[in-house]
Amino acid sequence: MFLKRTATCGELTSDDIARRVVLNGWAGSLRDHGGLIFIDLRDRYGVTQVVFDPADDAELHRRAAALRGEYVIAVAGEVAARPAGTVNEALSTGHIELRAREMEVLNTCETPPFELDDHAEMGSDIRLKYRFLDLRRRRMQANLALRHEIVKAIRASLDAQGFMDIETPFLTRSTPEGARDFLVPSRIYPGQFYALPQSPQLFKQMFMVAGLDRYYQIVRCFRDEDLRGDRQPEFTQLDLEMAFVEQEDVLGAVESVMAAVMKQAMGIPLERIPRMTHREALARYGNDKPDTRFGMELVDVSDIAATSSFKVFASAAASGGAVMAINASGAAGEFSRKDIDGLTELAKESGARGLAWLKVDESGFNSPIAKFLGKGESQALREKLSGQPGDLLLFVADMPRVVFETLGRLRIVLAERLGMIPAGRHEFLWVTDFPMFSYDDDQKRWDAEHHPFTSPDTADPAELQADPRRFTARAYDLVLNGNEIGSGSIRIHNRSMQEAVFAVLGISREEAEEKFGFLLSALKYGAPPHGGFAVGLDRLVMILAGCDSIREVMAFPKTQRAICPVTGAPGHVPQAQLRELGLGLLD
Ligand code: AMO
Ligand code: AMP
Repeated sequence: MFLKRTATCGELTSDDIARRVVLNGWAGSLRDHGGLIFIDLRDRYGVTQVVFDPADDAELHRRAAALRGEYVIAVAGEVAARPAGTVNEALSTGHIELRAREMEVLNTCETPPFELDDHAEMGSDIRLKYRFLDLRRRRMQANLALRHEIVKAIRASLDAQGFMDIETPFLTRSTPEGARDFLVPSRIYPGQFYALPQSPQLFKQMFMVAGLDRYYQIVRCFRDEDLRGDRQPEFTQLDLEMAFVEQEDVLGAVESVMAAVMKQAMGIPLERIPRMTHREALARYGNDKPDTRFGMELVDVSDIAATSSFKVFASAAASGGAVMAINASGAAGEFSRKDIDGLTELAKESGARGLAWLKVDESGFNSPIAKFLGKGESQALREKLSGQPGDLLLFVADMPRVVFETLGRLRIVLAERLGMIPAGRHEFLWVTDFPMFSYDDDQKRWDAEHHPFTSPDTADPAELQADPRRFTARAYDLVLNGNEIGSGSIRIHNRSMQEAVFAVLGISREEAEEKFGFLLSALKYGAPPHGGFAVGLDRLVMILAGCDSIREVMAFPKTQRAICPVTGAPGHVPQAQLRELGLGLLD
């Protein structure tokens, strides 16, 4: 038996003054003020200040002085008002303190490898190694609590919309989402492997054939990709699929879910999510996941550049390329030549051959290339880019793909540097009408932009095969603050169209049969029109929590090098275990 809590560390207020309570929790920093000892006692629910007064109990005070940070203690005492001038308005318990009468040390704690306060900065490797301590920090607990709220809102909304939660297997076959699979060796069939699902895509389509209209699942997906801030090898999707629907219906269902999330978890009303075609997103933002919280849109100045005596411009315009620009309004003074050299390096990393720039001043342009521009061109550029004195105009001349990539990236870097991104603002955007295929020049073949089950925007398989370039897909992405947080499509539900798509992709009948024969077979047995969507839950929570990595909103993420520092995974296994699986290791 121990002194068990009668209240949590987050609930006591002035209404409880004079109540006798017991609190359990972890001791934060110990402060000794002229004989009085103060301890911030923490648990999941909050922090309460505990006071040990030698005048009340000298022996208890002596024992309190021996406490160390992160000891687990139980304290019994009376709730008292804090003396005037010591109230902490930032805390819900900031008006009271607990005057200790009894204390029990429930457990000691070794000196933690890092401070557990929220402002402590430390490398993520040490945090991940001692994740059980890292997760004791209030900020991390708040992130996980937000995640929980978001999941609750999602489930409530989908339930209200008639969706049913159904599980799909983890030990399965390869799913075509384009990443590398994680494989699990079979003991019963040596030499054979299960693949962990990259998504439940094929299963959810079979649910639609089964008549299980409106499926959803909050489900782990596995992809062996290179990690980044927004990518983990295992991550969570809100996955859904609907039958007898068109694109509009899927967007509507997802939009209702997002409205519920924003309202319940964030207290923010979400109006209708604006839409933009893929083509427009590229043309205006150079990016298929544009951050629409700020302007600085791309402007095509190819027509003006075509007649220019600046060779870089004229030759790009003449050879099927484009010349485009962005106006970093008012930034001329903030960017020295050296800063612009830095931007030029960035441009080159994106594949551009250079970055041309003009600073607008009262008399015209200040720039090494100004001398190449005639009066008419200067005037036209200034007008088209709405150039005002003090503006910095940046130009890239290249094939459109490179121009988009470069200016799309510079736009974001500049906005961050110029403080143009409004804090606390959340902007959703649908990007629709993605291309159906992209052509891989190196491999000389067509790739699916989404996945091979996505319906093209035509009902005629022959037409599609004749000219794959002509068609867009019934595919759509959801973007939040410039991040792709989800994507989906209307699927192909008839076999001849599915075969046409495989033919374009160069997937033979045998290969298709081998890889997804079970889905193709299902499509023969009365597949209804259907479509769906998947939201990257970790990314959604990350953005709403204001974090810059999904690791901050996952309990036990992997490091950048795909290691789990808590458990040490991946690890070696004994020879015997390998033998049992029919496996041997190469040197
Ligand atoms: P997609 O592959 O676009 O679509 O994945 C959907 C969303 O999942 C998130 N995501 C990731 N999050 C963290 N780490 C990763 N490695 C990772 N990979 C993807 C992204 C992405 O937008 N089956 C289709 C959906 C459908 O068509 O219904 C699919 O999986 O936020
Ligand atoms: P150069 O003629 O190569 O000395 O380049 C003159 C200026 O034009 C430099 O500022 C280059 O960075 C820039 N520049 C070169 N190539 C391009 C390009 N393809 N697009 C935009 N600017 C370029």
